[in-house]
Amino acid sequence: MKFFADTAEIADIRELNDAGLLDGVTTNPSLIHKSGRDFMEVTKEICGIVEGPVSAEVVALDHDTMMKEAEVLRKIADNVCIKVPLTIDGLKTCRALSSDGTMVNVTLCFSANQALLAAKSGATFVSPFVGRHDDNGFDGMDLIRDIRLIYDNYDFRTEILVASVRHAVHVLESARIGADVMTAPPKVIKSLANHVLTDKGIEGFLADWAKTGQSIL
Ligand code: E4P
Repeated sequence: MKFFADTAEIADIRELNDAGLLDGVTTNPSLIHKSGRDFMEVTKEICGIVEGPVSAEVVALDHDTMMKEAEVLRKIADNVCIKVPLTIDGLKTCRALSSDGTMVNVTLCFSANQALLAAKSGATFVSPFVGRHDDNGFDGMDLIRDIRLIYDNYDFRTEILVASVRHAVHVLESARIGADVMTAPPKVIKSLANHVLTDKGIEGFLADWAKTGQSIL
């Protein structure tokens, strides 16, 4: 399963990328706002750090303006992936861009039928939001299971990009189900390294090492 970082914070992106943990990045207007950076400038910087797809989201609601915005965004770098909302205008934009060889991430997906539409429109990625689904009394992971089943039934090539990931169990379940990608805040990705027995093990080894009176350097 590929790991994308759901952030526009450069320091976090560099750290995860240097550890070999990043296959791409997703941003959205809220994350750009949180970063306090200029959208075009920060997107260009991220595209220069990460080799994989970097999602940049259009903000227009109608197809013609979405296409104009996408035209500006795709000039930023070759690895920009245009993010469009799951609306009929967004799907129309998805079809036009993907026919032209541009990567498209169809975002704000909350049902398996919506995911079916994204695949039919030729999306590179579909982003079902599991955390927000859970928040509203549904099981976000059931949604991922349904989409996996449907895409496999018809051999759709659109990649399932699990979004709105809030904790380690979302990541584990996504991998079990066979999602193609998951995008999570850097702190969730880093938390996957945590284990109490790892900490305890290090503590024990260091205590015994100190007793040997030796040093490596
Ligand atoms: C996906 O691309 C979105 O940026 C994202 O995962 C939104 O998640 P949130 O529910 O934490 O805002």
